[in-house]
Amino acid sequence: MKVVNVALLGIGNVGTGVYRILTENAADIKHREGLDIRIKKILVRNMNKKRDLEIDKNLYTEDFEDIINDDEIDIVAEFMGGVDPARDYIVKSLQKGKTVVTANKEVLAKHWPDFEQAAKGTGAGLYFEASVAGGIPIIRALTESLQANNIDSIMGIINGTTNYILTEMSEKDASYDDVLKEAQRQGLAEPDPANDVEGYDAAYKLSILASLAFHSRVHVENIFVEGITKINAQDITWAKELGYTIKLLAIGKKNGTVIEARVHPALIKQTHPLASVRGAYNAIFLHGHALGNFMLYGKGAGEMPTASAIVSDIIYASHITEHKFSTFENTYKKPSAITFNTDWASEYFIHLKVKDKPGVLSKISGLFGNNGVSIASMMQKQTEDDVTGIVPLVFITHETSELSMKKAIEQIKEIGDVVEVASLLRVID
Ligand SMILES: NC(=O)c1ccc[n+]([C@@H]2O[C@H](COP(=O)([O-])OP(=O)(O)OC[C@H]3O[C@@H](n4cnc5c(N)ncnc54)[C@H](OP(=O)(O)O)[C@@H]3O)[C@@H](O)[C@H]2O)c1
Repeated sequence: MKVVNVALLGIGNVGTGVYRILTENAADIKHREGLDIRIKKILVRNMNKKRDLEIDKNLYTEDFEDIINDDEIDIVAEFMGGVDPARDYIVKSLQKGKTVVTANKEVLAKHWPDFEQAAKGTGAGLYFEASVAGGIPIIRALTESLQANNIDSIMGIINGTTNYILTEMSEKDASYDDVLKEAQRQGLAEPDPANDVEGYDAAYKLSILASLAFHSRVHVENIFVEGITKINAQDITWAKELGYTIKLLAIGKKNGTVIEARVHPALIKQTHPLASVRGAYNAIFLHGHALGNFMLYGKGAGEMPTASAIVSDIIYASHITEHKFSTFENTYKKPSAITFNTDWASEYFIHLKVKDKPGVLSKISGLFGNNGVSIASMMQKQTEDDVTGIVPLVFITHETSELSMKKAIEQIKEIGDVVEVASLLRVID
């Protein structure tokens, strides 16, 4: 039976799940896969920290040199998180010919070219199923099952924290701040939630997904990112009345040599398959020219779902004799044949607070019209603000370009009787 020695870099949430599966399912893995996968070392910051698992103390080390200099270690599985020192450890492992399995989307999105170059140099493998959407096998689907397709669109709910927040706001009519506090209490949001709520986590994942789907490197810098911090309960209610739900979407599209990649909250029709993805669940919905529409749904994070993807990568890599790499030139440069579109077309949901005076609406409509923005519907909503003489106007537009909308909004802000542009959200059918 093939013996595979693995080092774990980190044993927090993900590492604990990996340790559990590799030890508790060892007999099944031997029987089904013909692999005897042994954990040889575990790197931690603090060997004396109290941990839930009973682990042989001799496995622990605080020194990465113990791993890199151990020639018996075949696979290094990284789930420390962050860029430093993860980047250095991954590069050094690959340069030594050790295959790397990682859950770390940030370091991969930022330093993938370095990793690939190091791996190609020694023939080591680089696997990262767990880096996008936790336990959902979307990476393998893209690289092993959808090669026959030209994928022209990929759209996902790939951040569980924000999807949990938006779902709770929608179903419990709760405020953003209250739901965020509850999510932090339950451990579903970090004490500093910026990476999730500002959309960066989803952007790292979209960078990886879109690169694989479109066979062209989509760097994080080429992704438009807007988070959910400005979403309010009122907009969620009005969106519901209009037949929409609000989600943080990661969207990639390819048309010929033009790619667009964006992460932002959007109104999505309640009938769309992604609208039913609730709580901390994730889903990826894509379109291939041969397959048509396709969706994968499941747990995008958590100890065991993420470990499921890591162990699957370890098993997969253990069977491979010649590892495969990207289908595209994986460098830090923008691909020369590709243009990144920043003026995409979309419908919009606009919530303006205006003084309740004659003529305001016609001024607003005039500025929309002058900028080529066509209104599909308009509602004047009743709220408690009415007593102050300020009323909310809600518009849904027909499809319009991002730049036209930005211009129209800049001009509308200049109208004296427009008190605030309270929300400007894109609408996805
Ligand atoms: N949590 C999830 O559900 C999930 C899902 C998908 C992907 N991921 C990704 O998986 C990675 C890990 O997440 P996690 O939630 O498991 O993190 P975590 O609970 O904070 O665990 C991190 C582990 O790495 C060790 N570590 C951190 N920095 C280290 C350093 N400089 N040297 C040595 N050891 C170090 C820590 O050691 P100590 O124990 O001694 O502190 C700890 O064991 C991240 O990249 C995350 O984005 C997580």
